[in-house]
Amino acid sequence: MNVVILAAGMGKRMQSALPKVLHPLAGKPLLSHVIDTARSLAPSKLCVIYGHGGAAVLKLLELYNATHELPIAAAEQAQQLGTGHAVQQALPLLDDHVPTLILYGDVPLTSAVSLQHLVQAAGRDKLAILTVEQDDPFGLGRIVREDGAIVRIVEEKDATNTERAIREINSGIMVAPTVQLKKWLSALSNDNAQGEYYLTDIVAQAVADGVSVTSAQPGSVWEVAGVNSKVQLAQLERIHQNNIAQALLERGVTLLDPARIDVRGELICGRDVTIDVGCVFEGLVELGDGVRVGANNVLVNAKVAAGAHIKPFCHIEDAVVGASSVIGPYARLRPGTVLAEDVHVGNFVEVKNSQIAAHSKANHLAYIGDATIGSRVNVGAGTITCNYDGVNKFRTVIEDDAFIGSDSQLIAPVTVGKGATLGAGTTLSKDAPAGKLTISRAKQITIDGWTRPIKIAK
Ligand code: UD1
Ligand code: CA
Repeated sequence: MNVVILAAGMGKRMQSALPKVLHPLAGKPLLSHVIDTARSLAPSKLCVIYGHGGAAVLKLLELYNATHELPIAAAEQAQQLGTGHAVQQALPLLDDHVPTLILYGDVPLTSAVSLQHLVQAAGRDKLAILTVEQDDPFGLGRIVREDGAIVRIVEEKDATNTERAIREINSGIMVAPTVQLKKWLSALSNDNAQGEYYLTDIVAQAVADGVSVTSAQPGSVWEVAGVNSKVQLAQLERIHQNNIAQALLERGVTLLDPARIDVRGELICGRDVTIDVGCVFEGLVELGDGVRVGANNVLVNAKVAAGAHIKPFCHIEDAVVGASSVIGPYARLRPGTVLAEDVHVGNFVEVKNSQIAAHSKANHLAYIGDATIGSRVNVGAGTITCNYDGVNKFRTVIEDDAFIGSDSQLIAPVTVGKGATLGAGTTLSKDAPAGKLTISRAKQITIDGWTRPIKIAK
């Protein structure tokens, strides 16, 4: 099968410099949703018609072509002369021996299952159209039937009042035998209300040629919903998020409010996972058995092992949280953070590119960057690893059972030995030997007979 995706339109109503098909739905460009669904059907040829914002669209395609096997071809439609004209641009790239499926870059949520039904309905020699009944069909092409058989499609602007009353609409998505498609497209005229070459006019031609025209219906009406404005984009985002939330509930995840979770990527959950309101999951996030995620957390490409508890208001990105660990509230785990089992990272603690071994704690106000921390270490409040000299970064090593007194600065590269203790307020610029107390602090003195200054009379 060939797949052609129409993505040349400007999307004026989006009121944006970004081409319409690149606006994100669930964190992914609309066009990527369509490409990913198309690819799941394993087509032999996949072609995207681009026009408005062409350079940005081509960049997205390049990204796909760099990382996937089936190449995506691109054909330019320099002027948007209509949907039929758009498909024409792809014709030289299509394989004649297999049917062609036409998709829209701004219709992101069509399921692969619905498309498979359509492809089956078309077989090798029929024209098949994905249609739905709509309460308010305004603006869409209507399916005109005679004795139940589809005879043509009429656009809103060209329709008579009787035709406008038809509620079965053209989703735009169709499958056609490729040789005939080529013939029909070359015979299109733009003699209509919009002066455009309508793809929909191939239907009447198929009927005239004695090719049967059939239809298939998607599982849900939103599968054929297009995005023309930010209003429609927001509506579709809610529909999509609701679908994701329902799927999570069905798999046994507890969502305190399924209307207040956003998944922009893939969220994999073990058994008995609980997610409170206001959480955002981006990229690939894995939550192990029994993980609890408190309110208002953002997790990006993160792995959280069984039994861990993420308290409210944390930001976790490219990080691994070990089993039974407790994070937050208000913690930030930056890329390269790997926490082992039962690690506690508390409020206003930032960890970056650091490994913290089992049972260690940094519970209050700390910066841990480029550090390797052993087991059962206690990092006191206000501890800072000074990892950066303005040019280069250096590592801090803190060995097992060390105790870092509050408000210490560890000037990397530096090592705190096994079981060492740093006195509060230490500025550590040389290694601290294992098992000993190291302290750098001006000696405390008390001045006898000192009095507070007195305000001078003016
Ligand atoms: C089209 C259909 C209509 C259907 C509706 C579904 C035609 C003539 N009409 O309407 O029957 O109900 O879709 O949404 O086909 N595009 C191009 N190049 C062009 C014109 C359009 O690439 O020259 C692309 C757009 O970017 C968009 C898609 O084709 O992704 C549909 O175009 P749009 O103008 O929104 O469709 P309508 O004319 O409203
Ligand atoms: Ca149009």
